[in-house]
Amino acid sequence: MSETASPAALKKLHIKTYGCQMNVYDSERMVDLLRPLGYAVSDQADGADLVLLNTCHIREKAAEKVYSEIGRLKELRGEKEARGEGRMTIAVAGCVAQAEGQEIMNRAPAVDLVIGPQAYHQLPELIARTTRAKGERLSADFAPEDKFDALSSERHVTGVTAFLTVQEGCDKFCTFCVVPYTRGAEWSRPVASIVEEARSLASKGVREVTLLGQNVNAFNGDDGTGQESTLPRLMEALSEIPGLDRIRYTTSHPNDMTDELIRAHADNPKLMPYLHLPVQSGSDKILRAMNRKHGRQAYIDLIARIKAANPRLALSGDFIVGFPGETDKDFEDTMDLIRTVGYASAFSFKYSKRPGTPASSMPGQVDEAVADARLKALQALIIEQQQAFKAELVGQTIDVLFEKLGRHNQQAIGRSPWLHSVFAEDAAHLIGQIVPVKIIGLGNNSLIGELEKVYAKEELA
Ligand code: SAH
Ligand code: SF4
Ligand code: F3S
Repeated sequence: MSETASPAALKKLHIKTYGCQMNVYDSERMVDLLRPLGYAVSDQADGADLVLLNTCHIREKAAEKVYSEIGRLKELRGEKEARGEGRMTIAVAGCVAQAEGQEIMNRAPAVDLVIGPQAYHQLPELIARTTRAKGERLSADFAPEDKFDALSSERHVTGVTAFLTVQEGCDKFCTFCVVPYTRGAEWSRPVASIVEEARSLASKGVREVTLLGQNVNAFNGDDGTGQESTLPRLMEALSEIPGLDRIRYTTSHPNDMTDELIRAHADNPKLMPYLHLPVQSGSDKILRAMNRKHGRQAYIDLIARIKAANPRLALSGDFIVGFPGETDKDFEDTMDLIRTVGYASAFSFKYSKRPGTPASSMPGQVDEAVADARLKALQALIIEQQQAFKAELVGQTIDVLFEKLGRHNQQAIGRSPWLHSVFAEDAAHLIGQIVPVKIIGLGNNSLIGELEKVYAKEELA
């Protein structure tokens, strides 16, 4: 596209997102910022005018992917230029940009722009400068300033569920983890700005919102009177919003599960009975070395209190195997904890040595093959628990939020309170609705449901 093209002419933006839900949220916000500049999202990098890699630094594999992706983009850029279609701008955002900004610029000269997770509100300005300079490289350093002030509360959404960042950063410094370095210190958004964004989402048909934060249950945003709010109080305020009927939050640290928050799981009917509460390991020795700041029994007791507040609540978690110093006995303690707690789902990872973290220089780094075997065993146990949890739902009637159309027979696909996909036939009229569905079978990674009836228009929200 030539520089004299009309400003309304669309430029193609391709954005690739790695890592956690917060990166998904950030990518959506970056698209929101770039739309007024005439960018429209393209699902292909080939031919794009701007490619944005929103990166993750959490494990080595995730971080390394970025460099191979940049190599591929360089070729696409060459082809685009050869076709006479102008230059492709390549920008690296996210946690790798924050952690290795300088290294990216040294190692990958094809990159035009490096921008960290706290600075992306400056994207429009930086892009404009980069395009003019044709290849100027700019890095944006960690800026604790409030990017949320710069973001509009109006969002472009099409679905019935959405992520909403309410807290960012981490002060916990688990010894394996880069997040405190990539996302900075814990910071919470003011309640009013979150409520405004949630209202906007609800007005566009969003029925379920997932509140995001690296330590979301440590949320302490300004409540509007200069006092600190809490996550349960924020969720109460959000529960008042008409149309917004389901609330979730992730990720939580066990030490920030306050009594007030546990009570919310009993008292707030909009709060979904599903909690992601990572423990990482079931061994006291390893938990200490990880600086998780709580022991095995404290976690087990906490789970018991949460389940007492809401017996329908199910758990998911994160586990790391092969942390430095982890013996067979330590690993067995983790397996035993999983058996004791029982998970509806879990993510599990082989420990990955991250530069600059205390664990990377700890003695007793675990042999790759041993870690592989442990991961396999742990994942088999989790899959078993996951299947058992799903099997228990067969025959029960559960509330399902229908999200999208399926392939045939007026089929629609929705989500259960525990984030299972639920397929039901003759449900195409129910997109955006929450209705009771009888679970009659299990699919591959899903539940098969049956409607109790066909709904008349007047019955629907
Ligand atoms: N704030 C969240 C975690 C964010 S990272 C929390 O405290 O749970 C998501 C998950 O990645 C972590 O829970 C952990 O299980 C995993 N993880 C983090 N650093 C890792 C590393 N160096 N190697 C392997 N897994 C890691
Ligand atoms: Fe990382 Fe620990 Fe903070 Fe979670 S709590 S982001 S694992 S340092
Ligand atoms: Fe990855 Fe950054 Fe999220 S390191 S997990 S994208 S906070």
